[in-house]
Amino acid sequence: MALVTLSEVLAIAQKEKIAVPAFNIDNIVIAEAIMEAAENEQSPVILSIGQGVINFGQFYYLSDIAKRLANNSTVPVVLHLDHGISFEQVILCLRAGFTSVMYDGSHYDFSENITTSTAVIRAAHAVGVSVECELGAIQGVEDGISNSHVNLVDLQEVKEFISTVHCDALAVGIGNAHGMYKATPHLDFYRLQACVDAGTPPLVLHGGSGLPDVLIRQAIEIGIRKINVATEIRFAYIKGLGEKIQTNDIYAIEHQAKKHVFEVATKKIRLFLNK
Ligand code: 13P
Repeated sequence: MALVTLSEVLAIAQKEKIAVPAFNIDNIVIAEAIMEAAENEQSPVILSIGQGVINFGQFYYLSDIAKRLANNSTVPVVLHLDHGISFEQVILCLRAGFTSVMYDGSHYDFSENITTSTAVIRAAHAVGVSVECELGAIQGVEDGISNSHVNLVDLQEVKEFISTVHCDALAVGIGNAHGMYKATPHLDFYRLQACVDAGTPPLVLHGGSGLPDVLIRQAIEIGIRKINVATEIRFAYIKGLGEKIQTNDIYAIEHQAKKHVFEVATKKIRLFLNK
């Protein structure tokens, strides 16, 4: 199946009251394991390419792999830029055939976020690509970008933002954090409900690693329609490598890493699809 847009899978998620899993793909083994899990579960899936991949110089290589995997799959697959840092980076992704981009202007002041998000949407929509924006910078470290504050999205800002910025998905800070949680996570579900009540586009939960299942289920129940997972996938991969490293057999090592990623991805998919 050819790649589909984020809007297309979010429409499925809205209808079925599920969240579409968005996994960061850092290499080919991870990408393959995730696709095998999605195929097995017959789940739509978002393959996210983040700043780590771009900084490591593997942007084109992994984008091509994602497109090839999508072409060979029977489930809807989105190729998505995670935490895009600039208008120029978004343009690079449009040219590379992405079907969804995130522009994360949450680190800038509010009016600058509005201005650049609007420009990004204009360019992306002109070529049929979906856009995710962010309000309330999410805590933690993601691919070297760090934010130490617990940021709860400001409801007034949400209302103002969605009245002028017509994004297809909105990531909000409700106590979620990138990386594994250092303390018991608390999500502000009243704030999440208030965002839904304000008429936001489908909402995105970043920091899906380490969140208890009960919180994930409640977030989906309220209206989260895309959940990002990176750290647990990376940890699963590294765990698998470690388990077989003594064999000195590269294929045995990669196979074990793939098995662990497949298991984590399968677990998350079942949870996000309310299976
Ligand atoms: P985790 O690394 O906490 O799973 O977060 C991933 C994420 O939100 C990517 O944008």
